[in-house]
Amino acid sequence: MRIAISTGGGDAPGLNAVIRAAVLSALGRGWDVLGIKRGYAGLLGEDEVVPLTRESVRGIAHMGGTILRTTSRGDPFHYPAVGPDGAYCEVDRSDELIERAGNLGVDAMIIIGGDGSLRIAQRLFERGLKVVGVPKTIDNDVSGTITTFGFDTAVNTALEAIDKLHTTAESHDRVIVMEVMGRDAGFIALHSGVAGSADVILIPEIPYDIEKVCDKIHSRDRAGRYFSIVVVAEGARSVGGSVSVIGESLPGGDLRLGGVADKLAREIQTRTGKECRSLILGHLQRGGMPTGYDRLLATRFGGAAVRAIAAGCFGQMVALQSPHIVCIPIVEALAQPKRVDPSHDVVMTARATGVSFGD
Ligand code: F6P
Repeated sequence: MRIAISTGGGDAPGLNAVIRAAVLSALGRGWDVLGIKRGYAGLLGEDEVVPLTRESVRGIAHMGGTILRTTSRGDPFHYPAVGPDGAYCEVDRSDELIERAGNLGVDAMIIIGGDGSLRIAQRLFERGLKVVGVPKTIDNDVSGTITTFGFDTAVNTALEAIDKLHTTAESHDRVIVMEVMGRDAGFIALHSGVAGSADVILIPEIPYDIEKVCDKIHSRDRAGRYFSIVVVAEGARSVGGSVSVIGESLPGGDLRLGGVADKLAREIQTRTGKECRSLILGHLQRGGMPTGYDRLLATRFGGAAVRAIAAGCFGQMVALQSPHIVCIPIVEALAQPKRVDPSHDVVMTARATGVSFGD
């Protein structure tokens, strides 16, 4: 039995712990393990395919990043290429990929990725490749699993920043607006904001009204609390407004969101006359050592992925449905994107403790 492992899309703390657990579990069964470098590029001859041994995964569980590298521009069905006119184009290299996997003697693949990579995994499965998915994203926006690894680490990174911003905001009677990741889902903003006692939390799922945001800041002033902390997800937008885009992506990449914190800080300063500052936490949330929770979850996912292969559960994704790790069809996980439910208890409790969502 020979399996291959790949990591695709944006990285998340815990990827190495999945790889380590999967490799050790597979070797323990007497299987061979290959690592596909940089998403699917290794199978397309654009990067390497390397053997993964006990030595390759020694001492990596606590490390951020991925020893296999990753890319957000490696969809084999829409692979970046240069056309005859020298311009960017996309080509379907999925046949080539499946053939290469066959030539390498790969019996099954573990694909660790977010919704984009899992969608590709599903298409490859429909074309005959035996795949098992492992959900990964700091945004926690994959359905079917209570949480994804990387999310807890990102929340803790954001929380540490909020704690630090509190002391300086209070010293200066300032409003500080901190932007966290979350294109479509506001879980990082919600969880770090609630845990960090933020005053305003703005998420993509609840469009905000700037007047309401300023009302909250005024009411704190009247109560003698002259500073405020606003946590905003990068994908948040005002009622009827649009998301803030920070810059150009390379061709074939996603739009790069960002800048909503700065926009909000300017608006709040103009409307309230209070001194405002802004901060984009950015990729700090994706880097560094995974928390204990993420390391354990990632390790459980890696072990479960190998058990899924042994049981022949292909086209499935491992998922946390506490207290168990289960397997669910990838299509089921992809059917409905996971978003913050505005009636969830975390939102209700936040409101009850005075947090404004700007609505
Ligand atoms: O991992 C998902 C995510 O964190 C999004 O919230 C964010 O928009 C995106 O990654 C940014 O990724 P990159 O800069 O790698 O394109």
